[in-house]
Amino acid sequence: MKILVIGTGMYVTGRNTEGYGTIFPSIIEFQRIHKIKNLEVIFTAKNFSNVSKAKKKISNAIKISGVKIKTKFYPNSKNDNKSYITILNKDKNIKCAIVVVPDHLHYEVINRCLDKNIHTLAVKPFTTKVDDAKKLIIKKNKRNLFGLVEFHKRFDKHNLLLKDKYESKKLGDPLYFNVEYSQKKMIPEKVFKSWVEKTNILQYLGIHYIDIVYFITNAKPLRVIAMGQKKWLKTKKINAYDSIQCMIEWKTKDNIKFNQTLVVNWIDPNNNSSMSYQKIKFCGTKGNYESDQKKRGIRIVSDERNLEEPNPDFCQMFRAGDSQTWSGYGVNSVLNFLSGIKKTLFKKEHYSKIFAPNSAHFEDALVSTAVIEAAEKSLKNKSKWQKIKI
Ligand SMILES: NC(=O)c1ccc[n+]([C@@H]2O[C@H](COP(=O)([O-])OP(=O)(O)OC[C@H]3O[C@@H](n4cnc5c(N)ncnc54)[C@H](O)[C@@H]3O)[C@@H](O)[C@H]2O)c1
Repeated sequence: MKILVIGTGMYVTGRNTEGYGTIFPSIIEFQRIHKIKNLEVIFTAKNFSNVSKAKKKISNAIKISGVKIKTKFYPNSKNDNKSYITILNKDKNIKCAIVVVPDHLHYEVINRCLDKNIHTLAVKPFTTKVDDAKKLIIKKNKRNLFGLVEFHKRFDKHNLLLKDKYESKKLGDPLYFNVEYSQKKMIPEKVFKSWVEKTNILQYLGIHYIDIVYFITNAKPLRVIAMGQKKWLKTKKINAYDSIQCMIEWKTKDNIKFNQTLVVNWIDPNNNSSMSYQKIKFCGTKGNYESDQKKRGIRIVSDERNLEEPNPDFCQMFRAGDSQTWSGYGVNSVLNFLSGIKKTLFKKEHYSKIFAPNSAHFEDALVSTAVIEAAEKSLKNKSKWQKIKI
């Protein structure tokens, strides 16, 4: 089995962090479980220097994990933003790909993978335009391929319990969801500096909880209003919103309308005790559900470091004997894709048995893409309400 990973940045390898990211540790855990003979992971990125750094991280992750995986890296001399196309054209044995490139490139790269009949897992946002998302869905179905979007919050027990309470109707009919989600200013200022102006904080971060509300309620988004502020990033000569606030009106299959407010920023102090501040509240006619997804109950402070409040549920490294292992909902989300693909390649199982029921197929991800596209229009159109077209 050959896996093509397109992108070798923060999410794949932990670039600019002390850790190893989420995608590659998840591949390690996949191999620890399945012990596939001749598993090969091919990594491609744009910058040669980025690939060199990734090589070091990856060989170290393999070493500490105690798991055997063969790897290849491209480009291996100079910068080449088409290296993944060369590999796709050359290597006919690649059956699946994981697309982890900047937000604005998702459509183009996913499209190339589908053209070569490759099952594809893409990180969020699926695409930034509904028309592009629809084209990819048509192509995937025509070619009988699997296409998932890596919305890992669908695997977080905080959200699964909320879905369970919602579906049981114990909290009554929905009135509103409130979401607050933010990250440290080092993300737009340093980590994503090269592409920060081509996305926005709603597309990069807020989209997770747009998908979560869809996942929980199965409702249809009707319209959105969005506003934002450009202040701190502007002082750093970065033309991007510091924060975006929006309200989304949804309608359930029983014709109940409810609201979702979503407040996001990416200029939290770098001294914050966690990378992400994240909270969701559901208010129904018979009760509330509140989930503080930053405070997972752990506080660490030492003479060397300020207070840290890690999230052990996402992609946490744990020592097991002489090796390091990774586990959490981020890992489970990638494992779901890879294990499903392994089943299709080796056992030809029925579609319904291949992936977990909480998977986000391309068709599901079309909904959150429609919301971010309409929100972008609202931002550009004096924060007027925009109809959401799916
Ligand atoms: N960082 C996270 O925690 C996280 C979590 C979930 C999803 N994501 C999503 O993952 C994607 C990448 O994020 P990241 O944090 O890894 O960013 P990053 O900037 O650290 O890495 C981007 C990678 O894409 C590569 N790339 C750029 N253009 C390319 C091209 N034409 N061909 C091949 N590779 C190319 C770069 O070389 C780099 O390796 C984004 O869409 C982001 O929204 C990130």
